[in-house]
Amino acid sequence: MKGQLDRWIWLCPALAVLLAMLVLAGWGLTWTTAFIVSVLLVCPAILIWGALQLRRSPAFPLAGAPQTRGVTLGWAAPIYDWYCPRLGLGDRFRRETLRHAGLVQGERVLDVGCGTGVLTRLAAEAVAAAGQVIGVDAAPAMIAVARERAQRAGSAARFDVAAIETLPFADASFDVVLCSAMLHHLPPDVKDMGLSSVRRVLKPGGRLVIVDLDRPANPLWWLLFAPMLLMPMTASNLRGEIPAFLRRAGFGRIEARGRWMGLLTFWIAHPDPAQGEPS
Ligand SMILES: C[S@@+](CC[C@H](N)C(=O)[O-])C[C@H]1O[C@@H](n2cnc3c(N)ncnc32)[C@H](O)[C@@H]1O
Repeated sequence: MKGQLDRWIWLCPALAVLLAMLVLAGWGLTWTTAFIVSVLLVCPAILIWGALQLRRSPAFPLAGAPQTRGVTLGWAAPIYDWYCPRLGLGDRFRRETLRHAGLVQGERVLDVGCGTGVLTRLAAEAVAAAGQVIGVDAAPAMIAVARERAQRAGSAARFDVAAIETLPFADASFDVVLCSAMLHHLPPDVKDMGLSSVRRVLKPGGRLVIVDLDRPANPLWWLLFAPMLLMPMTASNLRGEIPAFLRRAGFGRIEARGRWMGLLTFWIAHPDPAQGEPS
């Protein structure tokens, strides 16, 4: 029930604007003025609601959701595939991610924080029937959408609800782990736990493919994204600290392979045999 509510919660701001408009129009304002005032009233309310979401106590997770201090996106599940391409994360971005991943037939792949599973489904095509691809996300609503889309597309990708920091898989059981646009959802200590958990499930010769926020490449991006320096989960990305997190989690041979929109970086990292298992 809570999962269902979570899927439709995005309608609330639209209904709030509509309601406020009706009240203001009833008071004699023109429809245009009523619309502007309603948006101005509702926007701060959305910001406060968003802040409360970010601070939601992990002691009260949504039904079926694992406990995590990562910021999950269940509320965005119904609109995620609509807005991602509009933010520059469309087909070309997915193809570029797969190009860096260099998946080959027969590989076993895990996509952590898979969202609606767009990349997961493409990975399943790349490894073909001889391989296996599993997508996990801590938001049950995301996994519900991912399963629905995979079934409709006839994809062999499998989807489970799980958090990166407590992956329910055996040690050394994946050739490749994909981690697309999700590390910036984790506070620094959860990034440490999550990457250690990824290191545990990767085979010794395996690889981790990350694409995520990094130091902005130009002053305009710095200006726009500076407020994110105030949030610990995004600040560590913007300060360019992802390689340091990777080294702490027991990864070596960390290569930055390329950039996307001057804002995201593609990294490939390998478990460092010299470091053994992370503690
Ligand atoms: C921006 S989305 C990226 C989705 C997808 N990988 C993509 O490239 O479009 C980040 C996802 O990470 C998920 N997430 C947040 N914290 C998580 C955690 N601790 N474990 C697993 N997934 C998490 C969110 O629910 C969200 O679906």
